[in-house]
Amino acid sequence: MSSTTTLAISLNGAEISFEAAPGARLSEVLRERLGARDVKVGCNAGDCGACTVLIDGEPVCACMTSAARADGATVETLAGLVKTDALAARLKEAFLRHGAAQCGICTPGVMVSAVALLRRTPSPGEREVKDALAGVLCRCTGYRMIIDAVLSLGTPVSEASAAVNGPAVNGQGVGAAIPRLDGAPKVSGTERFGDDVAPPDALVVRVVRSPHHHARFVFGDLDAYVDANPGVAEVLIAKDVPGVNRFGVIPDFADQPVFAESVTRFRGEAIAAVVGEPGVIEGLDFEAFPVTWTALPPLLTTEEAEADGAVLLHQNRGKNLLCSGLVQCGDVNAGLAAADVVVEGEFETGFIEHAYIEPEAGFARRVGDRIEIHACTQAPFLDRDGMAEVMGLPPESVRIVPTAVGGGFGSKLDLSVQPYVALAAWKLNRPVRIAYTRTESMQSTTKRHPSRISLRVGATKDGRVVGFDFDGVFNTGAYASWGPTVAVRVPVHASGPYHIGNYRARSRGVHTHCAPAGAFRGFGVPQSAIAQETLFDELADALDLDRLEFRRRNALDNGVPTVTGQVFEKGVGIGACLDAITPHWRRARREAAEWNASNGTMRRGVGVASGWYGCGNTSLPNPSTIKAGVRADGSVVLHQGAMDVGQGANTVISQIFAEALGVAAGKIEIVGGDTDVTPDAGKTSASRQTFVTGNAARLTGEALRAEILRLGNCSQNAELVFETGAIRLIEGGEHRRVDLAARAPDAEGYVFRAEETYDPPTKPLDDNGQGVPYAQFGYAVHLVELEVDVALGVVKLIKFTAAHDVGRAINPILVEGQVQGGIAQGVGLALMEEFIPGRTENLHDYLIPTFGDIPPIETLIVEVEDAHGPYGAKGLGEHVLIPTAPAILNAIRDATGARIRKLPATPDRVRAAIRL
Ligand code: FES
Repeated sequence: MSSTTTLAISLNGAEISFEAAPGARLSEVLRERLGARDVKVGCNAGDCGACTVLIDGEPVCACMTSAARADGATVETLAGLVKTDALAARLKEAFLRHGAAQCGICTPGVMVSAVALLRRTPSPGEREVKDALAGVLCRCTGYRMIIDAVLSLGTPVSEASAAVNGPAVNGQGVGAAIPRLDGAPKVSGTERFGDDVAPPDALVVRVVRSPHHHARFVFGDLDAYVDANPGVAEVLIAKDVPGVNRFGVIPDFADQPVFAESVTRFRGEAIAAVVGEPGVIEGLDFEAFPVTWTALPPLLTTEEAEADGAVLLHQNRGKNLLCSGLVQCGDVNAGLAAADVVVEGEFETGFIEHAYIEPEAGFARRVGDRIEIHACTQAPFLDRDGMAEVMGLPPESVRIVPTAVGGGFGSKLDLSVQPYVALAAWKLNRPVRIAYTRTESMQSTTKRHPSRISLRVGATKDGRVVGFDFDGVFNTGAYASWGPTVAVRVPVHASGPYHIGNYRARSRGVHTHCAPAGAFRGFGVPQSAIAQETLFDELADALDLDRLEFRRRNALDNGVPTVTGQVFEKGVGIGACLDAITPHWRRARREAAEWNASNGTMRRGVGVASGWYGCGNTSLPNPSTIKAGVRADGSVVLHQGAMDVGQGANTVISQIFAEALGVAAGKIEIVGGDTDVTPDAGKTSASRQTFVTGNAARLTGEALRAEILRLGNCSQNAELVFETGAIRLIEGGEHRRVDLAARAPDAEGYVFRAEETYDPPTKPLDDNGQGVPYAQFGYAVHLVELEVDVALGVVKLIKFTAAHDVGRAINPILVEGQVQGGIAQGVGLALMEEFIPGRTENLHDYLIPTFGDIPPIETLIVEVEDAHGPYGAKGLGEHVLIPTAPAILNAIRDATGARIRKLPATPDRVRAAIRL
């Protein structure tokens, strides 16, 4: 037993004494002993700064500070500051107004750091803000809105709010730039994420993982291990899975074991889980876990995995091929033969880690013969059905209660912690919790697919693309996850938003002994856009055409078929995006030429790139259901199951519903995605929620309104006023009253209710990939200005200008937030990020953009109304980073002539390419 010491601190104004072991982390003590769950832990290594607190007014990472160091000191956390400090309260309002908190997991660390800055420097400049907040990482916002929020505290209030709200505010319905409706807990320190919700008596489970990419293993005496470690309650292995020891997001491809049975296929794969008392599990020596490993030769690249004689990861998948995709039209060989100019290239990208600041976490408990799982997720019903298979239970016996989600970006679509807490809670009949360490999160959860892409494109002298031949190989890792989706989606999108009559795009997903690759903002499309958009620049140059003009000549339009033969009669917005960018392109080109005339080793470049993205599942059913009700007291309740992972679904879906019903969005009470009480709104992926769930919300609002109007005998023009116990209907100066108390409530207490479903109209793709894959696409063009140090290869970003066609901006602040956050992730893809199993498994070896890396971003909101979207709206989530990386590569080439074919474009690669 380790000895403890009595320590005393002033925590948020309360004098507290407690016992702590020497070396106990302050973050652990604050969270687990003193209940300060607003202190978030993202890495436990001082890399992310989410746990930042103030000790005697100075910001420190609580995870890297011993509790003993705080003895006798004043400790302040966000939850205390916003209650007692007027400055923090003002900052809270500024964060809401500016949209500076998206998922909110980094927000306590960011705001606490900002308070420390503002106390000593009430009107800081941008440089000071960046320096003061540099220790905190944010994966969602792109940092600019945070900087603006902090700077606004040094600005007179009237000026600050005018700058944020702009002219777009028009009430609280569609088009209103209202602060996010679920924002208050995020900026108050009361938001509860996956690791914040377990009951105090919960046991802890920890997963034992493979240290090898590929290995055979044999367990020793597990019973003896349990007996030898008091406080360990159970060791779970494959035989303890009562249902199917397999999960996966696409049922026909489900192939990942909860626990590997004798062979592991990637470093970090689970083989067992140890359950026990908290404090015991954390102190266990997992080196002593009874298992004997025999390392086997791994296949880490697709070249190795496709080689003749390569071992098969899955016996039914010859050549390690998971799946393939094809879209073709016209005659690509004839088109290329007829071209006046043909360019070609081979492109390579690596694994990209999602790097959300919240590692996967949650808890489970057994409730009679049901299992209840509280965890962060992007897909409650997908989790429910997957867990039912694992548990051997009917789906109704599994309840998923999502917590707040500290970033997802695609990876929290897959099961992660859920099987381990559920199996342990089921067997032991005790609540069981888990929080992945940063390293196991990075080792074991899905990544963006690495790609190898070959592309040949030909054009005629008049600047028309006449042939396009694309071949992409995607490293899908050890298990399927979303690999089939990537293989299908890429060939549809590889053309970019252009008309190409002679086209062939092939893709294949290949298994390797790497972590599974899955969904990450774009499902492979950002990788294909890198090849297509950089070669389009080279084609334009070869034809001596302006690069923007070349894109315009080939841009899709209404009535012009896509490469799948789909023809949109309205809503094609790439032309409008190119129009919006044009004056910025001309200005930037002129300024760069002037700048380069007077500078030597620093060369300025301007790059442009386009993107498009189909919203929703590819040619598959894709329904969302929304339910709403009115209680007898006049409150309006929206059962909104579209998971808000920071992107703003709670606000956007509510605004759409509010518009349809005719009520202010702020009046709506939101019930989240609990599978027992809220219908299935599908998964938060594929940029589908605004479009698909938004339409379900619109239909539900309209149905509810129609029922109320019918009862009040009023026309569609009537105004509804929800009052305590009644709805007043006002039409033509007349007031009628619907007495809510006179109506019998249903089982859920609703006196009016509506539930509607929307499923986008798509059609299957044929063998040549011809058909109607999506009911809508969104479009984008990014322009980047940057400087390259030609001696060092270092790239300095100067400014982004991003034009996005969103059909109708339901909430302009949230649109801007998505664009800025997406660009930051695109910067990471282009310049710095690469996950290498065994080498970059933490946030100091795996670098993501920081406050200092993101330049000003000007967002141009383009609204070309969509035929199917709610009020004309289109999805946005994935579109926002697709053009970023190719725009950066095009700007580097513009500045230096360097062609970068392998990402990330780190200084050594840029310098090497300059010298070629
Ligand atoms: Fe910063 Fe999500 S809002 S990590």
